[in-house]
Amino acid sequence: MERTGAHSGKRWLPGLMLLAATSWLLVIYFHLAVLRGTPVVSEPRGSLAEIASDDSGDGQRLLLQHEERLSKVKKAPPAATSNALPAARHERRRRDDDEDCRGRYVYIHDLPPRFNADILANCRNWYPWIDMCVYLENGGLGRPVDNADGVFADEGWYATDHFGLDVIFHSRMKQYDCLTSDSSGAAAVFVPFYAGFDVVQHLWGVNSTAREKDALPLDLVDWLTRRAEWRAMGGRDHFFLSGRTAYDHQRQTDSDSEWGNKLLRLPAVQNMTVLFVEKLPWTSFDFAIPYPTYFHPARDAQVVEWQRRMRATKREWLFSFAGGARDDPYSIRHQLIRQCGLSSFCKLVQCGKNQRNCLVPSNFMRVFQGTRFCLQPTGDTMTRRSAFDAIMAGCVPVFFHPDSAHTQYRWHLPEAHDTYSVLIPEADVRAGNVSIEETLRRIPPDVAERMTETVIGLIPRLVYADPRSKLETLRDAVDVTVEAVIGRVNKLREEMARGQEHLLQKQSGNDGVQQT
Ligand SMILES: *[C@@H]1O[C@H](CO)[C@@H](O)[C@H](O)[C@H]1NC(C)=O
Ligand SMILES: *[C@@H]1O[C@H](CO)[C@@H](O)[C@H](O)[C@H]1NC(C)=O
Ligand SMILES: *[C@@H]1O[C@H](CO)[C@@H](O)[C@H](O)[C@H]1NC(C)=O
Repeated sequence: MERTGAHSGKRWLPGLMLLAATSWLLVIYFHLAVLRGTPVVSEPRGSLAEIASDDSGDGQRLLLQHEERLSKVKKAPPAATSNALPAARHERRRRDDDEDCRGRYVYIHDLPPRFNADILANCRNWYPWIDMCVYLENGGLGRPVDNADGVFADEGWYATDHFGLDVIFHSRMKQYDCLTSDSSGAAAVFVPFYAGFDVVQHLWGVNSTAREKDALPLDLVDWLTRRAEWRAMGGRDHFFLSGRTAYDHQRQTDSDSEWGNKLLRLPAVQNMTVLFVEKLPWTSFDFAIPYPTYFHPARDAQVVEWQRRMRATKREWLFSFAGGARDDPYSIRHQLIRQCGLSSFCKLVQCGKNQRNCLVPSNFMRVFQGTRFCLQPTGDTMTRRSAFDAIMAGCVPVFFHPDSAHTQYRWHLPEAHDTYSVLIPEADVRAGNVSIEETLRRIPPDVAERMTETVIGLIPRLVYADPRSKLETLRDAVDVTVEAVIGRVNKLREEMARGQEHLLQKQSGNDGVQQT
């Protein structure tokens, strides 16, 4: 893409955009709470909460400036002109691709608007301190990022909220190539409930009694379980998503002051497949899918061009860390910051109080593009959006805990973890007997380069494609997810068929779409 090249001379101009979606700015220590078995979190955690709290007010001011600047950024033309495909075209394509779609049909429940559209309409009130509506534009991608400094490409990059998947995933599902309006012929049933956006509405003191937090999940379960679609498999072929972490949905008591709702504790929900950006470590019906990044390609060519550019990038730093320290003495972040600061091989993008570094995505994305290994310690929870930002930049992630990615994103990341990432046990860093620099320098350059290539190869399956168009041949994170969900449902269907005679009879009408 010539236009990208034309910008390369301006790469070092300061960025203009602030971004809300930085997961290392939180101040709550959820991972500790989990590890120590005291799942009580009483302070704000959220896409914008982190900034407001980490920067003690300064973040809020920055965000307001951000909003102002965003509103001045010229609106880029839509990535694709053929926005929503007409239904008729879907129908035609479906007949043509009948073979292709066999066993892959998905039925999307037509939920009453209180479960999705009405929640979106309330976006001004989700957080007491900021209006999130701007992040819902463009099918949930947010507004295009300003690419004045050429860190991104001119097309396909958006200021996306890292907790914004509810609407992105739903928009993207509407483009799934094997939708059916006949639920009896579906391999799986998608429930477009905005579970993450719903809980967010009640987390910060507005309408936030336990009863209000649980109202919509209970309402949903009541609605779903009365439907014929539910009776087919007791809901085991249903799936839905929350763009937040599972932790926000597993409240243990009915105390108004305890964090989150109890969605995950409802028996009907446990029959479904539930998707989060971070799952609970101890349950088997929920699954983690990648955080959204800033990259939302509308065409295969945008992905291929980006991969080509990341392969060609000169990686002048061996490792880098973008993030802030934590007050928690148990956190290894201060050790990483110290080690990075002392090493001439490391580039530090420090995100502390009154530092805007990490609010400007081009700041850290530029560094990731020039780095071989990107340190990804746990933050307020085990996972970080930053790991996926690093991968988009072709930077090999270095994890310090298996739950930061390896045990989480099993559908999307390779099983051979050492082909695309490095694991340095947290305990060793904490004990002070491991040098990050030495550990990484021991990796032979040709091995490191192969890892970089593997990471760049992962980009397509980790992006959420622009939901207003469709990638021609590449499979994105949603395609990978739906395939995995259907695989899981097929297994459950077989188990139920084997185990329960009466269910076998009920299902005999469905045999035509069963996968072989
Ligand atoms: C709180 O709940 C009331 C009644 O359900 C509703 O009218 C109001 O809009 C809600 N407030 C916010 C900020 O969501
Ligand atoms: C969950 O599924 C089982 C079958 O596997 C069924 O017996 C049960 O009734 C379902 N639960 C609900 C709440 O529908
Ligand atoms: C570092 O210390 C930890 C805890 O004492 C120990 O388990 C680990 O084996 C040590 N690692 C190295 C590389 O010496």
